[in-house]
Amino acid sequence: MMFEKRILCIGAGYVGGPTLAMIAYKCPQYKVTVVDINPTRIAQWNSDDLPIYEPGLDEIVKAVRGRNLFFSTEIEKEIKESEIIFVSVNTPTKMFGVGAGMAADLQHWEKTARQIRKCSESDKIIVEKSTLPVKTALAMERILISSDNEIHFDVLSNPEFLAEGTAIKDLEDPDRVLIGSRETPSGLKARDQLVEIYANWVQRERIITSNIWSSELSKLVVNAFLAQRISSINSIAALCEKTDADITEVARAVGMDSRVGNKFLNASVAFGGSCFKKDIMNLVYICRSYGLDEAADYWEDVVKINDYQKEHFVLNMLSAMFNTLVGKKICLFGFAFKANTGDTRESPGIFIAKRLIEERAELVITDPKALNNAMIDLEGIEGKITYAEDPYESSAGCDAIAVMTEWEIYANLDFEKIYRSMAKPAFIFDGRNILDHKRLFEIGFNVFPIGKPALTHF
Ligand code: UDX
Repeated sequence: MMFEKRILCIGAGYVGGPTLAMIAYKCPQYKVTVVDINPTRIAQWNSDDLPIYEPGLDEIVKAVRGRNLFFSTEIEKEIKESEIIFVSVNTPTKMFGVGAGMAADLQHWEKTARQIRKCSESDKIIVEKSTLPVKTALAMERILISSDNEIHFDVLSNPEFLAEGTAIKDLEDPDRVLIGSRETPSGLKARDQLVEIYANWVQRERIITSNIWSSELSKLVVNAFLAQRISSINSIAALCEKTDADITEVARAVGMDSRVGNKFLNASVAFGGSCFKKDIMNLVYICRSYGLDEAADYWEDVVKINDYQKEHFVLNMLSAMFNTLVGKKICLFGFAFKANTGDTRESPGIFIAKRLIEERAELVITDPKALNNAMIDLEGIEGKITYAEDPYESSAGCDAIAVMTEWEIYANLDFEKIYRSMAKPAFIFDGRNILDHKRLFEIGFNVFPIGKPALTHF
């Protein structure tokens, strides 16, 4: 079969896999290939057991795999054969040398740029899909043009805004698609080609274009703004706990102001995930590198409040449970950084589990999707940790339950049965405010929500 375009994605991760699967699904006229250096990952994409869990992803991949969607490890061959290359390799926070803990580690990016240059035999459009510091496209361009051959590359920025757990919905019906390009004739032509791809299923008015630097920066800024809302509401939650105000009521009143809006105002044990902290620290690093220390401090405080929120949660547990957790059995309900994903990157559960172990508590961890990752995250930690899928079995005999993830199943459990099976006095610390606190209190629990007065029997 002759395909209209041959599109490649380098990097078969959380962004590359689902995004290119959606392009293949919506555009049967294009051949879409996803490559990765990791053969195990590619084998998983080619199997019935995909490497990531996303509602709706299985169906899409199964519908198009082998038709116009392919997963492969033959990176060099695929580079040669494609016209448009999305680069979606990971850009973790750099953990060494200059910018350690803040800057993005661009080694995979640079290697990829060099590999594209080496293998290309025809002109190509390169699309930045990974979240990158502003001006990365420039570095990419410099590497690509520093070859003796005559091949022309256009670099575009097309940040991905999908959130985990809703990736397929976000891809199918995005708020907007952002495409940044050079404002040269060839840059604009490349941009139009990418616009055409998305226009197969996204309304034109939702496909916005900008200069390449604005596009790169927008991705960092939207995540910084979202995280800032959570830190803002969490800082007020701490105040509510002291003043008998109720954070849900405050958030509702604040969020109904149409200028503020009601999204991302759920107080929680803390935000997690692979993006928020990484992108903010990246923004902080960029601000500092331009001498904008006040701007850098401002954004860094969003992360500091988030760290404080986790510690505050542990200190609340400690003080509620008579200032000692030694030998007490605590069940963590959920370990994923949010519901509907098995991902635990930067999950508050990791920090809290480690702190509780430091306080010499025993832990039982339950989660419907994230237990394997939890075991990896907590590997080598000295202390007693057990893992179980069933929340009833997990909480039996425990002194306390701490809700880490807002899985819907937790809200609908038989808490009378759970109460009967627990040690007394029984505590619940609801780090997501998903439970019916009044009802739990009536059953006999001592209940500690986030940002609301505690309900205790003492
Ligand atoms: C985020 C961005 O939303 C997405 O656009 C970007 O592409 C990647 O980063 P993601 O990390 O998948 O997506 O999760 P998100 O739904 O944004 O939640 C992040 C964290 O904030 C989670 O730990 C979540 O539980 C927490 N959260 C979210 C809150 O604590 N309160 C809220 O009101 C909303």
